[in-house]
Amino acid sequence: MSNINLSEIKVIKIDIIFKGGLMERNSLMKSVEKDWEKFLLIPISEKLQYFSRDGRIYDCLFAQQLDRDILTHLFKVADVLRKITKNKEGMRFANGLMSHKRSMLYFVQPSTRTFLSFLNACHILGIKTGEIRDTSISSELKGETPEDSVRTFSSYVDLIIMRHPLPNFVEKSAWLMNKTKRPVPIINGGSGKDQHPTQALLDIYTLYRSFNGEIDGKTIAMVGDLKRGRTVRSLSYLMKNYRNMKLIYISPKEFAMEKDILDFLKRHNISYYETDNFEEGIREADAIYMTRIQDEHDKNGESNKVDISAFCLNGNHLNKIKKDSIIMHPLPRRQEISVEVDDDPRAMYWRQERNGMWVRAALISYIFGCDEDILKYK
Ligand code: CP
Repeated sequence: MSNINLSEIKVIKIDIIFKGGLMERNSLMKSVEKDWEKFLLIPISEKLQYFSRDGRIYDCLFAQQLDRDILTHLFKVADVLRKITKNKEGMRFANGLMSHKRSMLYFVQPSTRTFLSFLNACHILGIKTGEIRDTSISSELKGETPEDSVRTFSSYVDLIIMRHPLPNFVEKSAWLMNKTKRPVPIINGGSGKDQHPTQALLDIYTLYRSFNGEIDGKTIAMVGDLKRGRTVRSLSYLMKNYRNMKLIYISPKEFAMEKDILDFLKRHNISYYETDNFEEGIREADAIYMTRIQDEHDKNGESNKVDISAFCLNGNHLNKIKKDSIIMHPLPRRQEISVEVDDDPRAMYWRQERNGMWVRAALISYIFGCDEDILKYK
């Protein structure tokens, strides 16, 4: 007769059941991961349908989803929305549009303006909002995966807006969500260092407003850390929607634009050149798009090894650039634009961040199909 008592047998049995369940879960996870890896390899142009419903964007994940017609439409909706909400009656109308909806802002990478502009965009449309900005106070601290966290949000809300440090995680979330019985749309508020589509949307809206709707034929200089800046990557993709655009990529060679974007430009016959001569590059630009060094992506302190002082805009440059050019920056800035530039009428970056709120509200209204109500409002 063995010495094992009944309670020990129970523990062994539970352990076997638990381990069996865990093995089953692990093999399921492995097969989902395999499917995801296969999906990730599909060219973006071929998988856009997966993120659309009834002929319109459902999950906004890539700048490549934004074609010229959609952009022009969103600009109109944003223009009307900002105009009508100047008075109480118009604001009351806007607040009623989506007052039956709730959204989750899952921003687990630092953000000020993308977070705040989306938060306020939701509030303009009457959407109630919840947020997680730090996984150290969510159940991820207890071992919940980000994938399960996103699934949980969808139990409570109608829309998820997210920024995440993991490459492609926002796309993966939307892919997983679309396999569930209760999917909700996902908007990418910045994913890894690959894409920031709604930043590109507000950037192009700023160009549209600054140039009275005439974006075709403009020369845009993008300056700074072009290698790791997701805003310049996403904005470059949008250039295919406009005619006779010219891009000037100005950066130290260590932070030059990546080959995939240059190949994209070649494929779409978009004219560009690369230079490390800042003063020469900005001289012919209609828009100068400054960016900061993205040292959060450093692996071995490589940012400190590059001198970026020659890629900063200050008061001395103001009489060397075109009189009708504009100066943009996705912000936050460091030393790449000195404060003395702020009062120049060509400095557009504070308006740019405000434009983000309106055009993001327009995008949300479009995803949920109340954009036409805004255009019809008298
Ligand atoms: N432009 C931008 O993404 O700013 P935040 O990081 O402050 O959101």
